Amino acid sequence: MLLKADELGRIELIERDSVRMIRRDIRAARWWARVFAQRAAAREARALAKLHGVDGVPALLGWNGRELLRGYIAGQPMQQAQPRDPSYYRDALRLLAQLHRRGIVHNDLAKEPNWLVRTDGRPALVDFQIAWTRGRRGRLFRLLAREDLRHLLKHKRTYCMHALTARQQAMLQTPAPHSRLWRATGKRLYKLIARRIFGYWDNEGKGRVRD
Ligand SMILES: Nc1ncnc2c1ncn2[C@@H]1O[C@H](COP(=O)(O)OP(=O)(O)O)[C@@H](O)[C@H]1O
Ligand SMILES: [Mg+2]
Repeated sequence: MLLKADELGRIELIERDSVRMIRRDIRAARWWARVFAQRAAAREARALAKLHGVDGVPALLGWNGRELLRGYIAGQPMQQAQPRDPSYYRDALRLLAQLHRRGIVHNDLAKEPNWLVRTDGRPALVDFQIAWTRGRRGRLFRLLAREDLRHLLKHKRTYCMHALTARQQAMLQTPAPHSRLWRATGKRLYKLIARRIFGYWDNEGKGRVRD
């Protein structure tokens, strides 16, 4: 079953030996986007390998330079499930802490379609194409990790505002000056590229992007 198709390739739900998996097919990418798509998939494979065994992250089932296979996680994307239970956000905070402890920053958490609500109500994360995977934890790492967290808190504000703690509200109200800098430079450039060249920024099942 086709889940998504764009310039960067196709995302399909498939079944092999009666195991459901998600296939990202790079060969379906347009020729001019192929190098970019392949690098992104390689980055995703690297991130998933480092996160092996983390509950709420798809298992890496294969990567051969052309197709990436991820374990299927049953549930719905955030914009459909609209998680209003505070426990979702508690678990999501724990999940982010685990990512960051392993030296991974997701970097694309403003997008609701990258957050899943599993059938038991717990969170899961997909789409590590632009993740930070190199593990060095300097200033930039901390800055980006904080942005991951802020994006989660924005979703919490949307669906579960009453459960925001005073500290979380303060964090939402006072973006770090360096994060403003990042927004003004790198991220805007990324979005411009994503939108203009790949046209892929906003076509995922109408999920909102909070930034
Ligand atoms: N492991 C998975 N289990 C269940 N659904 C998934 C999984 N991986 C991706 N999806 C679904 O497919 C959509 C697109 O996958 P994603 O990795 O976000 O691709 P893209 O980089 O093109 O956005 C996701 O928003 C999600 O709804
Ligand atoms: Mg996505």
